[in-house]
Amino acid sequence: MGIRSLVRGCGAYLPERIVTNDELAARLDTSDAWIVQRTGIRQRHIAAEGETTSDLATHAAERALEAASLAGADLDLIVLATATPDHTFPATAANVQARLGMRRGAAFDVQAVCTGFIYALSVADNAIRAGQAKRALVIGAETFSRILDWNDRGTCVLFGDGAGALVLEAVPDDGGLARGILSTHLHSDGTGYRLLYVDGGPSTTGLAGHLRMEGREIFRHAVARLAEVVDEALTANRLDAGAVDWLVPHQANLRIIDAMRKRLGLPTEKVVITIDRHANTSAASVPLALAEASADGRIRPGQLVLMEAMGGGLTWGAALARW
Ligand code: ACO
Repeated sequence: MGIRSLVRGCGAYLPERIVTNDELAARLDTSDAWIVQRTGIRQRHIAAEGETTSDLATHAAERALEAASLAGADLDLIVLATATPDHTFPATAANVQARLGMRRGAAFDVQAVCTGFIYALSVADNAIRAGQAKRALVIGAETFSRILDWNDRGTCVLFGDGAGALVLEAVPDDGGLARGILSTHLHSDGTGYRLLYVDGGPSTTGLAGHLRMEGREIFRHAVARLAEVVDEALTANRLDAGAVDWLVPHQANLRIIDAMRKRLGLPTEKVVITIDRHANTSAASVPLALAEASADGRIRPGQLVLMEAMGGGLTWGAALARW
């Protein structure tokens, strides 16, 4: 009998400060109407001065541990997805590990931009299946506000800060419709490196840099690649889209989310949407949505949850879980 990763609890954290579209329109050539119509975004949370990715991550992790009735000392693995680490090194996960009172096991970051959470979930799930870890914390945490060019209306209106976390625990895999992570599917294509990147870094300019994006090209790739990977995840589990109770997509653009929903033939009630309030929080968007929908009772134990994301790299991926 194999081992599977059961989702024991989720948690989320959003910085206090909310910035509305109107606030941005007061200092940029943009409007609430343009942003809502093109993206579905109405507001975003922005980290306070001095508030770091590890602060957001630690708050979300504490809430996930509380939901799982566990303490930091019970964990033996932290995988933290971020493209906006506190420092170039060590890993932001190491800081979170110390603050949670976890003194054993391993803690490290993974970097796949907006697909980061799916990558981190896959790494943690594989470690649990291999017997390398028993209780893992998977975190997506970002402070994209720090790498935005606030004079570029084409990008700065799209992103927000936040963190989400999920606790996984090893359970025996008794086959059939057992609860837990069913499968994860990861992809990348480095030929798209320049479509979405940050024009800085330790080995280039030595500065953190700003986000640059070919929005239209990314949009086109997103719809095509996400459709492929969602099919791959369902086929791998011999499931039809009709079996999906919840689609929890990366929240980059409401039009991309809606294209995926239509392709799967799902009603809007089965899609968890946070983009209107959170904007695109990169690696944090999927765990933020999971935490919100499980806290308010929408996602219930035994339900089938389909997660998908696409981001810089290009990277993309999907995960299926029986909650
Ligand atoms: N307000 C007003 N007008 C704007 C704004 C703005 N904030 N931003 C751009 N415009 C203008 C452009 O200048 C352009 O004007 P022009 O026609 O006079 O040149 C016009 O609006 C249309 O611009 P497009 O970029 O073609 O607009 P589009 O409909 O493609 O929407 C958007 C842009 C929202 C960025 C869209 O392309 C998108 O969402 N792409 C996907 C982005 C994405 O998913 N990124 C995240 C990936 S995840 C990650 O890894 C971070």
